[in-house]
Amino acid sequence: MPRTKKDYAIMNPEVEDYIYSLLRKRDKVLSEIEKDAEKNGVPIVGPLVGNFLYMLANACRARKILEVGTATGYSGIWFARAIEGNSGKLVTIENDPSRRKIAEENFRRAGLDHLVEIRGGDAKKIVPDLSRSEPLSYDLVFLDVGDKTLYVDLLEPCLNLTRAGGFLIADNTLWSGAVADKYDRTKETTTIRRFNEKVSRMDNVSSLIVPLRDGVMVAYKKSS
Ligand SMILES: C[S@@+](CC[C@H](N)C(=O)[O-])C[C@H]1O[C@@H](n2cnc3c(N)ncnc32)[C@H](O)[C@@H]1O
Repeated sequence: MPRTKKDYAIMNPEVEDYIYSLLRKRDKVLSEIEKDAEKNGVPIVGPLVGNFLYMLANACRARKILEVGTATGYSGIWFARAIEGNSGKLVTIENDPSRRKIAEENFRRAGLDHLVEIRGGDAKKIVPDLSRSEPLSYDLVFLDVGDKTLYVDLLEPCLNLTRAGGFLIADNTLWSGAVADKYDRTKETTTIRRFNEKVSRMDNVSSLIVPLRDGVMVAYKKSS
């Protein structure tokens, strides 16, 4: 899959090409979503991170997953495939109705719609509400909301939704490398920086940013 400008900032392009060359071919539905994302500028995680998410969901034997930021259902399909054998459930939040409609269709085409509940609306309200009504009930929470200035506000509720032994994962945590540029004081960059620092200092979490694509924060929630 062609890289975006962002990817160049993090990984050596030749090394990245090499890793891409080892990837297995995706099926028709995922390949078509990748092509559509490239054509229409939909910010999906792509196949490297998709693979990684699938592995992490399997590693914690996930049955219940929460995704914040559905877009057209690409990462959701990787997750739904990981929980398919355990009659699991993916709850995924998206505030853009046209993207929700496309995601619905993509989950249906992938034969996974029975495992997925798409919630329409603002993650800023939905995630804290869920955190109050269903604490500790998700095996894996994936934070990939388009509005990155929400990352700090959504950290506590996302962590509160994650069971001990589960993962909180967040995408774009290197933000094209901007987090390491001390002169970059834009709201997105400073929020992501604060998010990374907060996660790294939490006592009940073991975490690391994996410098894959735009940086994937993986936080493992320890038993307290
Ligand atoms: C990076 S994309 C998600 C990509 C998806 N996880 C994937 O890899 O296939 C982020 C999505 O969050 C949505 N979004 C932005 N702000 C939101 C908000 N406040 N509440 C819910 N969704 C939001 C955007 O419309 C966008 O589709």
